[in-house]
Amino acid sequence: MYTHIRDLLFKLDAETSHEFSLDLIGAAERLKLAGLFLTDVPQNPVEVMGIRFPNPVGLAAGLDKNGDYFNALGAMGFGFVEIGTITPKPQPGNPKPRLFRIPEAEAIINRMGFNNKGVDHLVAQVKRRRYTGVLGINIGKNAVTPVENAADDYVKCMQKVYAHADYITVNVSSPNTQGLRDLQFGDSLNRLLETIKIEQRKLQLEHSRYVPVAVKIAPDMDYDAVTQVAQSLVSQGIDGVIATNTTIGREGVEAFDISKETGGLSGLPVRDKSTRVIRILHEELGDKLPIIGVGGISDGESAAEKIKAGAKLVQLYSGFIYHGPQLIREAAKGIANLKN
Ligand code: FNR
Repeated sequence: MYTHIRDLLFKLDAETSHEFSLDLIGAAERLKLAGLFLTDVPQNPVEVMGIRFPNPVGLAAGLDKNGDYFNALGAMGFGFVEIGTITPKPQPGNPKPRLFRIPEAEAIINRMGFNNKGVDHLVAQVKRRRYTGVLGINIGKNAVTPVENAADDYVKCMQKVYAHADYITVNVSSPNTQGLRDLQFGDSLNRLLETIKIEQRKLQLEHSRYVPVAVKIAPDMDYDAVTQVAQSLVSQGIDGVIATNTTIGREGVEAFDISKETGGLSGLPVRDKSTRVIRILHEELGDKLPIIGVGGISDGESAAEKIKAGAKLVQLYSGFIYHGPQLIREAAKGIANLKN
């Protein structure tokens, strides 16, 4: 059935169809019809970062940036839902059009630029939470904040979301905010993580609760850069790593005119790049730090591939747009079958 609905939705421009679908899902949940979308996902609990996940398949950040739809999305059977990226102040993001599909390659290019309603809006939404599953909150910096002051924005977001998150993701890997990805390297990364760790300790005392922090990284790094990031994460006491965000590369989609659009590429073309980063991270980290694998998951096999490469959990985005809620079950089954 999803294929028919998708064919209709794909006739609309990408961002309109995205908003329309989320509104529909949200309305269904409010009308207590969320069961319509519930997929029969095998229970396969796993403990990661001290949190018990009912199954290892989550929703990746960026689909529900403002926390407006997570109750409905959570009701579909995801083991966890990550909302955001949120920034301290609301911001419009880049001019439209900024979201493009390449259906032939099951790919998406986006240069949304962290369009969001600001952290206060997200917190108000999360306070009305009905979803009882695991909720991650992904934080970033405003476009107007100079990258040298980025830590201030992450700290502001941490202070506001800490009480409401099961885990927090520090996004330093979106290609659509100028200078953001520079924070993934060397001293910039170490300084940022130090500040974040100090804030996490303060908030832990204040709230008598430890909320783990994961860092989300890009796929466009050479071997040495990935191992250096891994070492920094461990030495700074970060709790997890999410690999990966979208790629700035265009391998596999060069033949399509849309590939010339600026932005991050996701879906099938990022699958191998993401798995490669996970593999390097795992080689370097062993079991010191859990990896959450994301990028190009489109079926049970590609989900299992991330786990085999060393991930403990996976997340979906583009595959969920192309295949619908059934992919949650397929991915969960692919992973459960690995154990048998
Ligand atoms: C994203 N992604 C993303 N990631 C993030 O950390 N914060 C964000 O705000 C967004 N926004 C966003 C918007 C759109 C339209 C897309 C397609 C993607 C990245 C996403 O979470 C994921 O890491 C990548 O898309 C790779 O996974 P898939 O899409 O190949 O499954």
